[in-house]
Amino acid sequence: MISRDRTETFLPQPRCLVLGLTGGVAAYKTAELVRLLMQDGLEVQAVMTSAACRFVGVATLQALTGKPVLTELWDPGVPTGMAHIDLSRNANAILIAPASADFIAKLAHGVADDLLSTLCLARDCPLLVAPAMNRQMWENAATQRNLDMLRSDGVTVLGPGSGAQACGETGMGRMLEAHELAEMVSSFFQPKVLRGKRMLVTAGPTYEAIDAVRGITNLSSGKMGYAVARAAREAGADVILVSGPVCLPAPATVRVVRVISAEDMFAAVQKEMGHADIFVSVAAVADYRAKSTSKQKTKKTGHEITLELAPNPDILEYAAGLPLPPFCVGFAAETEDLEENAEAKRRKKKLPLLAANLAQDAIGSDECALTLFDEAGRHHLPKAPKSEQARRLIDHIALLYDRSLPPP
Ligand code: C5P
Repeated sequence: MISRDRTETFLPQPRCLVLGLTGGVAAYKTAELVRLLMQDGLEVQAVMTSAACRFVGVATLQALTGKPVLTELWDPGVPTGMAHIDLSRNANAILIAPASADFIAKLAHGVADDLLSTLCLARDCPLLVAPAMNRQMWENAATQRNLDMLRSDGVTVLGPGSGAQACGETGMGRMLEAHELAEMVSSFFQPKVLRGKRMLVTAGPTYEAIDAVRGITNLSSGKMGYAVARAAREAGADVILVSGPVCLPAPATVRVVRVISAEDMFAAVQKEMGHADIFVSVAAVADYRAKSTSKQKTKKTGHEITLELAPNPDILEYAAGLPLPPFCVGFAAETEDLEENAEAKRRKKKLPLLAANLAQDAIGSDECALTLFDEAGRHHLPKAPKSEQARRLIDHIALLYDRSLPPP
């Protein structure tokens, strides 16, 4: 539990992943995958089959992981001389990417004739595979039978995707992109504190048109809202993200509804709100819009002009005021008197939880500090990447949400 008025330490446990590479052109994508996994705080130990070494260099993986790459069953560098046992003992999970049709067949039948297949057989941790192969190899009944066997043995199969292939054909069998795999692996490691919950999140700025080419907006990048949507998904929630105009990729397996103005966002939230258990309003909704807009570009005259503004609907206040409101979480970006303003806002909008930060530190940045305000008081989350901050927030939401439910 996050306790009252205390700076949290939140030291994530180191997570160790054995990344196994087998022979396939998609092996080039693993260099980027390693970078993303390590950015997310994972320790990565690469293990390569001899076929993998033909597609990507050992030196590349060694430089990126900062560890010697293991390729031989009886590696003299492993103290006990039993890399297959040592590695599976130390790993929290094994990911095979790319997983060739041949390697999948070996896994399905328990063949252990090299280091990687042996350590998969000797493992006592979860195994994930990211298949990569030609369309016809993928469609072959033998491959599909082998994958069914792996699934029924509890192995997680990630992808593949569909698209252009190295052989010149188009179809199923492309290994997922590095960022998709990195997201799935991170998600795999997160506790499922929101399993079965439906969450609606708003993110980004809104854009209020004045004329055909001009409008009112703000500096929100959408990074925090997207991180919250991603963290909720990692925690097992079913997530809908209503997003203002931003330049960010949609989080994997999150439904994104794109909107422009505050009124569009309000309409989308009303439409999607019906089934939400939790509503997290991260968007920096413009407080005002132009009272009248022009379809043409307004001409310059050299005279002063006055722009009349009308207030926008307060989407969060609307949600929190519903007869049966979802669990509502607000965000507040303040430039001064953070604590007083944030707590006053939480009470005015009748929110069980509000996350506040200093606008000048948070807007557009990849990191921020957050202070959470709830009925128990104030909880400081020291500066961290927004991805990590969003996970901490999701943990706190899950705790408060469970407590808000009537006893069974
Ligand atoms: O009052 P203020 O704009 O600072 O409140 C911030 C919170 O209210 C945020 O969670 C924001 O998403 C939400 N909000 C809203 N609709 C508005 C203005 C703010 O949902 N028109």
